[in-house]
Amino acid sequence: MTKSILQLDHVGVRFDALRAVDDVSLDVRRGERRAIIGPNGAGKTTLFNAITGVVPPSSGRVVFEGRNITHAPPHRRADWGISRTFQITNLFPSLTVRQNMELAIRGLTPRKFSFFGSPAATDEERAQADSALTLSRLAARADSAVNELSYGEQRQLEIAMALAPNPRLLLLDEPAAGLSPAERVIVANIIRALPKDITIVLIEHDMDLVLSLVDWVTCLNNGQFLAEGTPADIRNNADIQNVYLGKARHHA
Ligand SMILES: Nc1ncnc2c1ncn2[C@@H]1O[C@H](COP(=O)(O)OP(=O)(O)OP(=O)(O)O)[C@@H](O)[C@H]1O
Ligand SMILES: [Mg+2]
Repeated sequence: MTKSILQLDHVGVRFDALRAVDDVSLDVRRGERRAIIGPNGAGKTTLFNAITGVVPPSSGRVVFEGRNITHAPPHRRADWGISRTFQITNLFPSLTVRQNMELAIRGLTPRKFSFFGSPAATDEERAQADSALTLSRLAARADSAVNELSYGEQRQLEIAMALAPNPRLLLLDEPAAGLSPAERVIVANIIRALPKDITIVLIEHDMDLVLSLVDWVTCLNNGQFLAEGTPADIRNNADIQNVYLGKARHHA
């Protein structure tokens, strides 16, 4: 078994003339906690889309566990062990927590999920759901409707749904976005306590949060690789500080 679980080899994603991801290479080790940081529009979510197959790369290669998955469809990549959360909440509000979990486990949409036509969850599906809800600290809310959950609990459910298929690679896109400081602490603790055999790649703008969670950080800017290093390296990196300060001034 190689130490590397995910390799991006000169990956590019173009939208017409825009190079949203431009010649990015990186190597994530099995069990690693990796952050992808960078200002708005840096290409972070597009990079996740290239890894999960939502947007195929226009150049380069994506290799997962030694397998070239560059052009594999998203559901195959999910079967092979890649799972993700989305930057925007992606839940079905009138269903219960457990029903949302069943949708995630079966890879269904609500349209296909009929309360009358759908067979009851198998014992195995129930066990998968329970285990993911426990890791996400939502077991007590299993029978609540999603629209009764706090926003923080909804983000926890998204993590639970991504964990449900037992992924080996978990991609988290701004899991703490929009949360209060107290809710952020809960989400950070959930991520920190996830089993070490799940490799995690995390996009997050809150620098204190992200640097407290990961071993290694990759910073993108304008679709391109800017820098990488340990959290301590990143705190002291002048290029990264300039990029963030530059953007902050720009938005001011
Ligand atoms: N489907 C698409 N079609 C056209 N352009 C896109 C598409 N998806 C992303 N882009 C553009 O690609 C660039 C990178 O976007 P992306 O969403 O990957 O950035 P990001 O780093 O995730 O930003 P944020 O921190 O704001 O979430 C942006 O200029 C964006 O407008
Ligand atoms: Mg994004």
